[in-house]
Amino acid sequence: MIEKLEEIFAQFEQKVGGLTNQADILNLKSEFIGKKGLISEVLKSLKDATPEQRKAIGPKANDIKNNITDMVAAKLTAIEAQEINEKLASSRIDISLTDDVKEGSSLGGGFHPRTLIQREIEDIFLSMGFDILDGPHIEDEFHNFEALNIPSDHPARDMQDTFWFHDPNAQSDEKKFLLRTHTSTIQVRGMRSRKPPFKFIAPGTVFRCERTDASHEMVFNQLEGMMVGEDISVSHLIYFMKTILKEIFKKDVEVRLRPGFFPFVEPGFELDIKCLICSGNGCSVCKQVGWVELLPCGMVHPNVLKAGGIDSEKYNGFAFGLGLDRLVMMKYGIDDIRHLQSGDLRFNTQFKTF
Ligand code: PHE
Repeated sequence: MIEKLEEIFAQFEQKVGGLTNQADILNLKSEFIGKKGLISEVLKSLKDATPEQRKAIGPKANDIKNNITDMVAAKLTAIEAQEINEKLASSRIDISLTDDVKEGSSLGGGFHPRTLIQREIEDIFLSMGFDILDGPHIEDEFHNFEALNIPSDHPARDMQDTFWFHDPNAQSDEKKFLLRTHTSTIQVRGMRSRKPPFKFIAPGTVFRCERTDASHEMVFNQLEGMMVGEDISVSHLIYFMKTILKEIFKKDVEVRLRPGFFPFVEPGFELDIKCLICSGNGCSVCKQVGWVELLPCGMVHPNVLKAGGIDSEKYNGFAFGLGLDRLVMMKYGIDDIRHLQSGDLRFNTQFKTF
């Protein structure tokens, strides 16, 4: 019987060597040392053995069981280690990177200045009970123009040079889809998805087919805001405008409010800020006028409320379209909007790193 046990152990050694799968190894283990395994089978015939033989066979069987258990455990650990190594080798995350990267060094991660300002503004508005909404970059004429009181023959369409898409399903060469020219599209989506009273902001990228210069980019960022309810007035609007500027600049900045025309607001205003790049003396960012248009705004036009499914007799509201990139420029004294999109690390790493 001793030989029989040794033979079984040899068989086990031979079989286990070729296995690489954890389940197969566990199966093999129970095939050999399980309750109905080969060893147990052998031990069943112990009853026919002499007491001498029993004394020798019992410990031998135990040794073999222990050996098999140890071998299985070692094998499983090895397989696990190999799997982890393979995963690490194919993973793109290098978890071995040490944390001794110096702040501001080329290896240190950091936030884009726009992200920093956007998060700050979002926090301010969240604390005042505003929601934060998002909307698609590719829009239709309805959301970008019609619902905002800009019908197709309206000259205001020319105010915003538009990138158009050709609708692949249209029979003719109709230009139906476009890259949104302003985040005001989200006013429409916001109104249609909620019931007044409500208030939200909507940061996002917008696109205009324009020539670029120090203060103009084809791809830039705005932050829309809208508040709709009963008895909303211009003083609410001014309060919120002042709050943002005070929180962002942490100092008094000179502003001026002048009438501005946008078909979706009535009355409409332009809120300008004294240029912080040149202190109002004139530079390429403010086009030598000393003031920068930062916050176009106004009281929502009744036609826009109607297009948003809102009873314009009962409710009114204000909206604004903050020039996010311009605000970032004013805050950090950046003299050319094109730096923001440049992806140049010498620019990006000047701001807060983490
Ligand atoms: N959507 C306007 C623009 O991009 C800005 C604006 C928004 C004006 C909301 C008034 C109210 O020029």
